Amino acid sequence: MDRIRIVGGTKLNGTIPISGAKNAALPLMIASLLTPETLVLENVPRLSDVRMLKRILGNHGVDVMVAGKRIGERDEDGETVKLNAATIVDTTAPYELVSQMRASFWVIAPLLARMGEAKVSLPGGCAIGTRPVDLLLMALEKLGAEIEIEGGYVLARAGNGLKGGEIDFPKVTVGGTHTALMAAVLAQGTSVIRNAAREPEVGDLARCLVKMGARISGIDSSTLEVEGVGSLHGAHHRVLPDRIEAGTYAFAAAMAGGDVTLTDVQPILLQSALDRLAESGATVTSETNSIRIRRNGNGIAPVSLETEAFPGFPTDLQAQFMALMTKANGTARITETIFENRFMHVQELARFGAKIRLDGDTAIVEGTPVLKGAPVMATDLRASVSLVIAALAAEGETMINRVYHLDRGFEQLEAKLQHCGAQVERIRA
Ligand code: EPZ
Repeated sequence: MDRIRIVGGTKLNGTIPISGAKNAALPLMIASLLTPETLVLENVPRLSDVRMLKRILGNHGVDVMVAGKRIGERDEDGETVKLNAATIVDTTAPYELVSQMRASFWVIAPLLARMGEAKVSLPGGCAIGTRPVDLLLMALEKLGAEIEIEGGYVLARAGNGLKGGEIDFPKVTVGGTHTALMAAVLAQGTSVIRNAAREPEVGDLARCLVKMGARISGIDSSTLEVEGVGSLHGAHHRVLPDRIEAGTYAFAAAMAGGDVTLTDVQPILLQSALDRLAESGATVTSETNSIRIRRNGNGIAPVSLETEAFPGFPTDLQAQFMALMTKANGTARITETIFENRFMHVQELARFGAKIRLDGDTAIVEGTPVLKGAPVMATDLRASVSLVIAALAAEGETMINRVYHLDRGFEQLEAKLQHCGAQVERIRA
């Protein structure tokens, strides 16, 4: 397994282009199952989760083609991926594939909507909590699906097609909203989705579905109304920028110090994170498509926060912000409200000398002036990158093991940091 070696203590200076959002690209790729025509997605990040999903979709019969590079295209532009599901050859998503990536469970919605049946393995637990799918199944049932669970698989049927219905989510769920949307667009009649997730990746999916001929109103709000149509057609869509990647590098710049500009971003998508960062003492300047982060000399002020659904502070940036707070001039309380067990990074951050105590769903981080490099282990995706942030500001060398977690969600991490002067290298297995 590859490892990443970081020698900390260098300020970051330069520009980092932000990739397309993993969490938008995945549901968009899955949406290709809804139409026999070609869906063209631009700015798809080159990540192992994307590669895995290409395999999973291929198993259902989707032809996946990656366009070659055109003259004038920049290295940092993501892939253009053409997906064609003219014929769906298999409506089963097997355990071996779904267990490797939870988002692949979402194929249940388009398969059911288009083919009237789907058999999808339950995704199972993961490092950040139990993560059930009850609300996704509830949404499908409200649209007339019959659901059974047998041998670890969800069997979903809608012999006469799905029917419009009312879905009231008792809690905000991104995957639940993606599922409800992809099922409702081909249902007969009108569906209403209440307490829908307002995460930008949901809006991106909805906008792409509209380009494919879907009728959706209320996009970006918590109530979505969907008027079902008989079929969808092909479309061309550009994946929105990764707000979590952008937030991660913004925190890294504040942690290491220096002057970094993030390009190809939409600052509005991570305003709550930028506000917290400014409170911590960094100078944050946003333009339409770029964000500049500077911290020179002044210390890091402690900032307490709670994770929340969008537009609140995202759970996917909690670990990274905690890394920043380990060097604050005081104590910060970080409360995780979305996932019950998303603190795997706490014990790894402790290896750098960070002082963090857990009290239920809250981490109490007592800032310390000096972190020291250490051998650490990547656990989940966002936890892993919090170790990168700590390592950049730690004295001496850090070796991060199990970096395949990072490759799931961060495109060219080492290159992007190296361009800003960081001493980072990958040691191939
Ligand atoms: C998406 O996961 C993201 N994944 C996660 O990012 C992100 O952390 C999460 O949304 C919250 O923003 C992708 O987009 C691929 P949820 P998802 O359904 O959809 C509970 C990353 O690092 N719940 O919004 O699975 C659930 O347990 C990943 O990129 C139920 O109880 O999250 C959680 O407590 C990690 N029943 C809460 O809702 C259900 O049926 C929110 O989960 C579904 C969810």
